[in-house]
Amino acid sequence: MDEVKNFEEFLKLPDKYYVTTPIYYVNDKPHIGHAYTTVLGDVLARYHREQKVPTFFLTGTDEHGQKVQHAAEKRGISPQEHSDETVLRFQELWERLGISNDYFIRTTMPAHKKVVQEILQDLYDRGEIYKDEYKGRYCVHCERFFKEKDLNGDILCPECKRPTNEITESNYFFRMSKYQGWLIDYIKTHPHFILPMFRANETLGFLNKPLGDLCISRPKSRLSWGIELPFDSDYVCYVWFDALINYISGVGYRQDDEKFRKWWPASCHLIGKDILTTHSVYWPIMLKAMGVEMPQTIFAHGWWLSGDAKMSKSLGNVVNPMDMIDRFGVDAFRYYLIAAMTPGQDASFTEDAFVNRYNSDLANDLGNLLSRVVKMTLRVGDGVIPNHGKFEQEEHDLAAALDNAIVSMHAAVMTMRLDGGIEQVLNAIRAGNRYLELTAPWTLAKKGETERLNTVLYCTAELLRIVSVLLDPVMPEKMTEIRFALGIDRNERPEFDVEKLRAFTRNNILSGRKVNDIDSLFPRFVPAMPEAPVPAPKATEKAKSQKAAEPVGLIDIEEFGKMQLLTAKVLEAEKVEGADKLLKLQLEVGDTRRQIVSGIAQFYTPEDMIGRHIVIVANLKPAKIRGIESEGMLLCAKSGKNLKLIAIDGDVPSGSSVG
Ligand code: ME8
Ligand code: MG
Repeated sequence: MDEVKNFEEFLKLPDKYYVTTPIYYVNDKPHIGHAYTTVLGDVLARYHREQKVPTFFLTGTDEHGQKVQHAAEKRGISPQEHSDETVLRFQELWERLGISNDYFIRTTMPAHKKVVQEILQDLYDRGEIYKDEYKGRYCVHCERFFKEKDLNGDILCPECKRPTNEITESNYFFRMSKYQGWLIDYIKTHPHFILPMFRANETLGFLNKPLGDLCISRPKSRLSWGIELPFDSDYVCYVWFDALINYISGVGYRQDDEKFRKWWPASCHLIGKDILTTHSVYWPIMLKAMGVEMPQTIFAHGWWLSGDAKMSKSLGNVVNPMDMIDRFGVDAFRYYLIAAMTPGQDASFTEDAFVNRYNSDLANDLGNLLSRVVKMTLRVGDGVIPNHGKFEQEEHDLAAALDNAIVSMHAAVMTMRLDGGIEQVLNAIRAGNRYLELTAPWTLAKKGETERLNTVLYCTAELLRIVSVLLDPVMPEKMTEIRFALGIDRNERPEFDVEKLRAFTRNNILSGRKVNDIDSLFPRFVPAMPEAPVPAPKATEKAKSQKAAEPVGLIDIEEFGKMQLLTAKVLEAEKVEGADKLLKLQLEVGDTRRQIVSGIAQFYTPEDMIGRHIVIVANLKPAKIRGIESEGMLLCAKSGKNLKLIAIDGDVPSGSSVG
């Protein structure tokens, strides 16, 4: 991050960490955007807890205002009843997503309402709030007033482009304008206050124009669903003024001084870029007028788009988090949200991209590494993780890749570049897979080179343990499973201590532990392929007569070209239990991995197969053989009872095309 002057300083752990999400409108159905901010908050909170930093994570719902009142009226129930029902959609989703918030605040809670009223009374008593007549236009959708001059003669809302209504009424105003100079100065002198930097510049741009006072009341005749002004019972409080206060009422402001002093100022208010102005202008000025310290950072992330388009209900392209969780599991969904978006920028969500990333990062790279290590330890190491022998260059290289992952992940948490940190962890995982290919533990076992074999088993297990710590905040369930597979109790919480983790060569946490064979961590996802259309016969008379002359079964070059033949390298092979003809093979095909079940067990042993270069039909429709996924087939020559694999004459990399 270029705005960080002193990187070393910035990497120091804070004394405490208090992170918030926006409180969501209880009326909306939670979608991927809400899930994103909340998962991001959760991941940050979990990293800090794992680093032993006292942490408080707040989320909740925004329940007052016109939209809730209208929705309740339509349903013929009270706004409170309506909120009580709809809040569950958020609470259930957060539970499903494993969100570890310390408190869930609802703005209809009596404690919050009391705090808002006390603040209003205090500001009113000190002359920060005054009554005035107001003439302007009002947007029901955005719940915002605009002066005629803000609209430049238009009647459409500058925010949402819906028509506004003319309105004249008496209202209460918060003296925001007098703090304009102070705020500009504060933003300029606090480079971490609004992040990313370009959002701070955007706010300063907004503050170039004169700032008006903020209308903070609504007459009950027009809107009754809100917090009553303590000094005038004909009015309720403007919903944003009420909502922003959640960040302090949720940690004890005016209720529990000790608690409030412990957590405030917030370390990070996470928001989407849609609500930048309310958070970077209204909120700091409200706090300033109250005499409360500023939050450390307001971080505005970007937008999840559906492909390149904005997600919207009317376009019908909103991604429903529950569907994704049902299909891919909670942790895969959390992983994608965090790995695929650079905080601050927009990101595009498509199912194809999701599936690709799932299969390559999780099923192939991470899942395969775990299953190889566990299976090998069970088969050749009596199921016990051994102590390591002398380290060679390969082990030092592996340790270097891990070291980079540990330091990068730590820096990533501090600089809000979780995607970048994850990429380095993935690089370490890939280095682990390469290390296994290089050291060939099956061959070591065959040759009886036990000490070297032990080193390989130890190092790959330790790599997985460290990865499980680094990715625990992102995928808490699956990382617990990795540790369980390595013989660590499921209840043992990991600790993200950079120095301890980096002690790769000296750590002996795993030696002597018994591994547990677990099911595939991330089963490969094979998208349902559409049936290939049967081409309509469009034979002319001439073609027909030609056809008759041709020998049966001839295909043309196009038809042959549909077949994708590729070279592959066998990484692993094992017998399929209860099927004496079948071998299950793990293949390397260029950058990808795949599994094929093949009926060659009576001709080749698993050991025979490992390391061989073979030819596969790569685009055969995936099938299940004895319940095991098989993606493609091997090419063999067969004659009576004899079967020989098709081999390649010389060296070509796996994934080369054949034909
Ligand atoms: O604005 N991509 O609530 P809200 C990424 N109640 N994030 C998205 C998103 C998308 N496509 N869509 C929504 C409100 N979000 C107020 C907040 S706070 C004191 C009051 C996320 O239900 C993002 O965090 O409209 C955005 O800021 C928030 O949802 C808006 O939620
Ligand atoms: Mg919104």
